This record gives sequence, structure tokens and C-alpha cells, in this order.
Amino acid sequence: MLEPQHRVATQLLGVGETEKNHNGILMVDADLRQMDRVEQLRILMQELGSVSEKLFVVQNHVRSMIMQAYALGATAVVSRPREIIFKLAQIEAAEKVKQADLGVTFPQIAASAAVFASLFSAIRTGEPIDLSEAERATSQIINSISQNGLGAWLDDVRRYHEGTFQHCLLVTGVAVGFALDIGFSSHDVKRLGIAATLHDIGKAHIPLSILDKPDRLDPGEETIMRRHPVIGYELLKDIPDISAEVLDGVRHHHEYLDGSGYPDGLTAPEISDLVRLLTISDIFAALIERRPYRPAMPRQKAYEILSGMGNKLERPLVKAFRNVALVA
Ligand SMILES: [Fe+2]
Ligand SMILES: [Fe+2]
Repeated sequence: MLEPQHRVATQLLGVGETEKNHNGILMVDADLRQMDRVEQLRILMQELGSVSEKLFVVQNHVRSMIMQAYALGATAVVSRPREIIFKLAQIEAAEKVKQADLGVTFPQIAASAAVFASLFSAIRTGEPIDLSEAERATSQIINSISQNGLGAWLDDVRRYHEGTFQHCLLVTGVAVGFALDIGFSSHDVKRLGIAATLHDIGKAHIPLSILDKPDRLDPGEETIMRRHPVIGYELLKDIPDISAEVLDGVRHHHEYLDGSGYPDGLTAPEISDLVRLLTISDIFAALIERRPYRPAMPRQKAYEILSGMGNKLERPLVKAFRNVALVA
């Protein structure tokens, strides 16, 4: 499938010498439920530690195998042959960009993305959530956007990340950009930022087959997907230092002022200002996301859609957001 566009050197695990090509991309297809395989891979991964992209193929998204893949040092997990082609194309595109210019925000994005990865993996394996990690990621994002502006953040995130992490990095970036633009105090920027960082944390319990589905969700999948605000709320509600407004943001970021949102069908008087800001940031970020099967929507177009949502969102806030959507 990959030849002749790519040079492929295949090797059976545990048989013969590893070809030590550190410039390529490592692709691993093994049954990660077998401990001897895992052990062989652990050694191989040490030998090839400097290879920057390590793709693991996990058929049918078996969760325990996905976790094992990341534990072994995978940089991405794919499930279908088609995805491998997309993934390689993305890596190549990112490589070209990297060579041309390593983006000023790159280290900050990488650090924040690592925090998201660790938060999600902690939740998936049932470990406690470390709130200070989420705070650290939020501070990094606030610093980056204060220094380099929102535009650089959005462009670089979309270049290097995909899926749920891309979304979380974008929403937090947009929310922070919004808060800075309307002149919030640093305390309030942080409050909105942390709510944005955690807003979709419930997606850690949504099956990856739904989360990463390239097509539209069917009604059954949509019902499952819509559980994520309540799941997130349940995950966070017993953490000692969690604030009521973060919980509010996590649970209610899909509510609309006209009562048509979910999960609680709240109406305007019940929807706080923080949630209103978060919802606008979330919708805008989702629209401008880059997906493997479609290019990112221009910010202008995304703002038009947001403006066309009528009484679902607070009009003056959507107006105020114009500056963030189009200029910042
Ligand atoms: Fe959400
Ligand atoms: Fe979201």
C-alpha cells in the first residue's frame, strides 16, 4: 500500500538485526496483549529512541492496546490502513513546515499537548486527575497567547495536532484570546482558561471509534457522544479544590440560551457568563479544526456561522468576539 511512494523496510519482531534507520518513521503492528511482544518492543523502542514518529497499528481500537502503545512510546495510534496514509501525509506536511520554520509557539504547544495526553490517559486508566497539571497547561497557553498572539497559536496547533487534543488546545486558546481581548483581569483569564482546558475531559470515556469517526455520527453514536459533559462533571465533582464555575463550564458548555442545548436544557437566566464565553469559544474552535478528511474552515466563514446562530448565543458577546475571530 505504501510503496512505491515510500521506501518500506519490513522486519519481523525478534528476528534478526534491526535496521537502525533513525530518519524514517517507525510503524509497529503487533499484538500488544502478548507480554513477550511488549518486551521485544520495549527493547526496540530503546534502540530507535531518536526516531521522532512512532505509529502503532491497533485494529478495532482495543483500548488496553492503545494504552500499551502509548506506554511504549507511540506518537500516534492508527486503526485502519487508510488512516496510515493520512497520517504519513500529515507527518510529511508537518516535516516540511518544521524545516521551513519551527513556529515560535511550538515548545509551548508541545508542553500543553503533553499535559492533555497525560490527563486523558490518567482518566482512561482510572487514575486520579491532577488538577495542578491542568492549571500548568492553562498557564502555558495564557503565556503563549499573551506573547505571540492567538493567530500563531491557532495556526501551529492545527499544524501539529489532531482530534481531541487539537480541539482542547484550540478551545483553550480561543477562550484565553477572548478573555484577553475583552480586558479580563489575569485572575478571570485563568478562570475561563481552566474551564476551557477541562471542558471536554468527559470525552476520555467516549469510545475512540466515535470520537475519531471521520463521518457524521449516527443517532446512537450521537447519544453516546452527548454524554461527555455529564461524564466530565462526574469525573471532576469530587476533586477537593475544583471550583463551582469549572464544574458549571464542563457540564453546561453545550447549553444554549434558547433552551435547545444539552444535557440539562437550561435557558438564559441559568447560563452563567463564563459558560456563555466558553460556548462561543468551543463552537468557533470546532469549526476551524483541521480534520484528516477536510481542510480547516477559514476564520471568516466560521464567524459567519457563529453569527447566524441567533438566539442560541448572546448576541453582544458574539459581536465582541468578532475581533478575536477575525483579527487576533
Ligand atoms: Fe463538548
Ligand atoms: Fe468542545
